[in-house]
Amino acid sequence: MTDIKDILNRLCDGRDLTREEIISLLENRTPEIQSFLAEKASAVARSHYGNKVYVRGLIEFTNYCKNDCYYCGIRCSNRNADRYRLTEEDILGCASYGYDLGFRTIVLQGGEDAYYKDDMIVRIIKAIKNEHPDCAVTLSIGEKSYESYKAFYDAGADRYLLRHETADFDHYAKLHPANLSPGNRQQCLFNLKKIGFQTGAGFMVGSPYQTNENIADDLLFLKKLDPEMIGIGPFIPHQDTPFKDMPAGGLDLTLYLLSIIRLMLPTVLLPATTALGTINPRGRELGILAGANVIMPNLSPVGVRKKYALYDNKICTGEEAAECMNCLKHRVESIGYEIVTDRGDNVRYKRA
Ligand code: 5AD
Ligand code: FES
Repeated sequence: MTDIKDILNRLCDGRDLTREEIISLLENRTPEIQSFLAEKASAVARSHYGNKVYVRGLIEFTNYCKNDCYYCGIRCSNRNADRYRLTEEDILGCASYGYDLGFRTIVLQGGEDAYYKDDMIVRIIKAIKNEHPDCAVTLSIGEKSYESYKAFYDAGADRYLLRHETADFDHYAKLHPANLSPGNRQQCLFNLKKIGFQTGAGFMVGSPYQTNENIADDLLFLKKLDPEMIGIGPFIPHQDTPFKDMPAGGLDLTLYLLSIIRLMLPTVLLPATTALGTINPRGRELGILAGANVIMPNLSPVGVRKKYALYDNKICTGEEAAECMNCLKHRVESIGYEIVTDRGDNVRYKRA
């Protein structure tokens, strides 16, 4: 077995690690190793992106979802979820409000809701790009056909977020009902890349039944996919789901993984997620200090925010986007970083 020091050096030198080495990195986590890697990872982030933190305005436009993922608060069988849909006008209004606040990326996120047909999504993408040509549009609306993804891309969408959730098919089956296929989900990610989207994958940290072996496989899958963006955040139980009594994912493990991901994929756009800010009041700041470089504040109308509850106690559900922007500006500056309002593309990205 390779010595842990050796593994750390190889990781910091940008060399590939084997599955066994990654597992050993996870098993041997200590506060010292964690702060060593955070230091190295944030230096790598700064070498590519300076002390800039990119912001993405998130519009959660529907909490209807046809899927029944066991961890998620908006799963279709949650009868307590108060369902809502934003109209096209609402969505465009949110986007313009975000634009005025300085956002140059608009993220449209929703459950898998068949009410929004492809042509409607296409119309919304075109309208946002038409009104705000200097904005990037990111979609996060789940698994679709190659043709649908292509239509969204041709309409002007730039990026797509679709977490793979877990690379291990047996673990996937413990988190999802049998009608959901991890193979199809991974195929969607390769399709998105092929079409030309800046693509985001990712997983929850500390999801029920997750092992270090699973995490190692997640990291190897990410390395293979080589996405432009990676979203990871702690699993947080939701009271109306089968996983309501499962423990939340840990702060330190999440930070450790942010650092490892930054070192494995140096230019990746890596958010300090809202879930991370939910399990710890300084979670997002600590995320940036561990190597993250993106924050995704909420642009949804305050009236619907509490309803987009994937997990319990989500932060920022009572604040206006302008308040969050102010709050984030102070938080980010308090650790020596600054929020910037350009599109914040991956440094290696060029649209064909
Ligand atoms: N805790 C944390 N993250 C969650 N997600 C869904 N439910 C939860 C939860 N209970 C994540 C999933 C999904 C993303 C939009 O939110 O990884 O892909
Ligand atoms: Fe929303 Fe601080 S970021 S209140």
